[in-house]
Amino acid sequence: MKTPDMLEAKKRCKDNNTEFIYVNPIINNSYDGKKYYIRTYGCQMNVHDSEEIAGMLENLGFVPTEEMEEADLILLNTCAIRENAHEKVFGFLGRCKHIKEKINKDLIICLCGCMAQEKSVVDEIMSKHKYIDLVFGTHNIHELPGYLMQLTGKLDVEVLSNDENVYEVGETFVRASKYTAWVNIMYGCDKFCTYCIVPYTRGKERSRKSQDILKEVQKLKENGYKEVTLLGQNVNAYGRDRDDEISFAKLLEETAKIGIERVRFVTSHPWNFTDEMIDVIAKYDNIMPYIHLPLQSGSDRILKLMGRRYTQEEYLELFNKLKSKIKDVSITTDIIVGFPGETEEDFEETLNVVNKCKYDGAFTFIFSPRVGTPAAEMKDDTPMGVKEDRLHRLNELINQYSNESNQKYLNKKVKVLLTDYSDRDKYKLSGYTDTMKLVNVDCDESLLGEIVEVTITDAKSFSLDGKVE
Ligand code: SAH
Ligand code: SF4
Ligand code: F3S
Repeated sequence: MKTPDMLEAKKRCKDNNTEFIYVNPIINNSYDGKKYYIRTYGCQMNVHDSEEIAGMLENLGFVPTEEMEEADLILLNTCAIRENAHEKVFGFLGRCKHIKEKINKDLIICLCGCMAQEKSVVDEIMSKHKYIDLVFGTHNIHELPGYLMQLTGKLDVEVLSNDENVYEVGETFVRASKYTAWVNIMYGCDKFCTYCIVPYTRGKERSRKSQDILKEVQKLKENGYKEVTLLGQNVNAYGRDRDDEISFAKLLEETAKIGIERVRFVTSHPWNFTDEMIDVIAKYDNIMPYIHLPLQSGSDRILKLMGRRYTQEEYLELFNKLKSKIKDVSITTDIIVGFPGETEEDFEETLNVVNKCKYDGAFTFIFSPRVGTPAAEMKDDTPMGVKEDRLHRLNELINQYSNESNQKYLNKKVKVLLTDYSDRDKYKLSGYTDTMKLVNVDCDESLLGEIVEVTITDAKSFSLDGKVE
């Protein structure tokens, strides 16, 4: 039994003690034919962690199911970024409890991910949700097979507050797509933006070895993958935690040189976005001209309170440089409204930046206080109604610009990697442009997995329609 501790999670030691541990996969048939169901919330990192978990489960003989009710193991991979996840997660756990009581008394229920790193969540589970079998955290995912072998029928909690090591799990992934793949390049975050829980739930910044990353990309290419997305909470920081590692710009270049058709990365912080990075993105045709560049706020006063390390002017300078140096680049963003103390004037500064940047798209959020973070302690006297009104006004503006940006595609020819069957009848397949625009395509199903030239026939606020000539 190990439970999380926020103070421990906050600690960062100066010395670089990272060890690279190559994990031997555990392969046996102890759960042969048993069915697993995974529900994932949160960011790409969590989605990719679930791919690792699926791989470990299949190595033990589990097979996937889409139906919760027929599962022998249900695993919930959670996100802690905003408070509203809490109700969703406990609601879902209620359904699991019902299944365990009424349908399958041997059902194994597991909870992992960022909420498992929150002390309050673990306390609540230990006092009120003892029907759960296993809670484990973000630092010891690779231990899951061992924990499953040792289940006793009583709740087991295995959450570490922090870990300095990098675990290499080799080929232990069941990837959701056959064409696009996530590749972790680093774990954790040391930025400690004052509103954000990630540095506590994911621990310190630890870069993987570039040779391990490049080997993984090479393999993916050999296995027919067309696209890789390099993942990190702040990819600009890649390699900075080590003396013997290359920079992110260099890593991006080496990845591009492998020759896989499309290379993407997410997320890049506006701080420390180097000219070298911009030059590499501009130079290689297979590095996609798409950047997610979170703004958070346009007000210098709020940016400072957020600990974001840039001003509006610096952000705009970078934004304009990206637009001028990278041909046809599309840029999206994240914005928080209603940060503690945000005034109408502060909010209008955010609208000003949106009016200047005319983003291709944005994720917008109302500030959510997270226990243990500095912003949760700040005086916040803006009524929720005012915050909601700001979010609404912001969204109207964001939608207007994303619609305008989409209209520019009308009648143009663009390249689309067709990755999925379309949800919409007439359109057979769907996929993304180089610039990360979703397109529903009227075409032959045999084109699934191909990069094709598509003529755009209709443009909506959130997607495009097109056909293959
Ligand atoms: N590492 C990424 C962010 C990951 S979290 C980056 O720095 O860009 C994704 C987004 O969630 C953030 O960009 C932020 O806009 C939002 N977010 C994070 N903490 C939040 C909070 N406490 N309340 C509301 N939104 C938050
Ligand atoms: Fe959170 Fe800031 Fe780190 Fe992003 S950079 S994960 S917002 S602390
Ligand atoms: Fe959520 Fe954790 Fe990602 S808090 S956004 S799942 S790093």
